[in-house]
Amino acid sequence: MNKKTVKDIDVQGKRALVRVDFNVPLSSRDPKDTHITVTDDGRIVAALPTINYLLDNGAALILCSHLGRPKSTDDHHLTMGPVAKRLSELLDRPVTKLDQVAGESVTTAVANMQPGDIILLENTRFEPGEKKNDPALAQALADLADIFVGDAFGTAHRAHASTEGAAKAIQAKGGAAVAGFLLGKEIAALGRAINDPPKPYVAIMGGAKISDKIQVIDNLLAIADRVLIGGGMANTFFKAQGLEIGTSLCEDEALPQAQKLMAEFGDQIFLPIDVRVADKFGADANYKDVPVGEIPADMMALDIGPATIEAFAGLLSDAKLVIWNGPMGVTEFPAFANGTEGIGQMLAGQVDGGTEVIIGGGDSAAAVKKLGLADKMSHVSTGGGASLELLEGKPLPGIIVLDDK
Ligand code: 3PG
Repeated sequence: MNKKTVKDIDVQGKRALVRVDFNVPLSSRDPKDTHITVTDDGRIVAALPTINYLLDNGAALILCSHLGRPKSTDDHHLTMGPVAKRLSELLDRPVTKLDQVAGESVTTAVANMQPGDIILLENTRFEPGEKKNDPALAQALADLADIFVGDAFGTAHRAHASTEGAAKAIQAKGGAAVAGFLLGKEIAALGRAINDPPKPYVAIMGGAKISDKIQVIDNLLAIADRVLIGGGMANTFFKAQGLEIGTSLCEDEALPQAQKLMAEFGDQIFLPIDVRVADKFGADANYKDVPVGEIPADMMALDIGPATIEAFAGLLSDAKLVIWNGPMGVTEFPAFANGTEGIGQMLAGQVDGGTEVIIGGGDSAAAVKKLGLADKMSHVSTGGGASLELLEGKPLPGIIVLDDK
């Protein structure tokens, strides 16, 4: 993944089509709400280094992104208006938000651009051709610009018109298609986790469902020295070993896969040794910590227990590289956030001691942010599905398409 970046090309006086991932959380999902705001600007902030670099070096920027999963243009709440407003505040300069993704009004606005100008196109998914990677839409986007900059790591696993098609169309007319700094950082960090990682290398996998991550676990078992499993997915492994799991979440259809992994990689997989069990799924549940194997028939495991946190600390202590994907328990309920918090604090301490700690996107990134630990980690990925697919070892179309060095 040795891709050219914005630093490898001359951007002076160029019009750059910059695909960012501004798929950010919003304050409302009501299409009639006209006062929607961005509630977490993390992804916008993460794109600023590329945006500022291009502006400082004399480019005019045509930014584009999807926002949510609109069914039609009637999903007015998914307009890019609130995003443009937040971006303009962060940059402290005007951002012109257009009402279309492509078409005459866009062509006219772009024709009048000067270096330093910033246009944000409307939600790319308002165009039916976006998800179909329609060549006509890709060409319309490519016609707007001289160069393509891919900085949407969160969407790099989608071969859409604005992520892959437009890059190819710009290359076809002789323009460069290069990575922005965010994409470059993600490739470097997550790339290390799958290609030639420093050893000992420990992966921590959590989250509710094993089926979402079975390919990642499988791929990491071939590379990592140890894989520690927590969260709801641990229950499926417990049941696969014939243990009582009470009313805990379990994916019966994944039992054969869990059994296969245990048989093949049993000495590399580490499961919780105790769990926090609850009498119901709720913040006000009664709970207690029990050794694995003593889960009462009428209770459910909602977090790893204190002995597991300690055991995991031992398994992490000599690690040179750690990748963490998925919470250890139901973090939205304070009583069941202990495991995630304990592991998060421990990893933050290890970064101070020289361990490289990479946090996969999605729920684990949200958890470390909530704990105030995001800044302490070596890298927190901005991609959920994209980071999982990269860790599965799959090529990501939004990266593959970019020019090689
Ligand atoms: C994400 O939030 O994971 C990305 O923006 C991709 O969104 P999508 O899953 O709707 O394609």
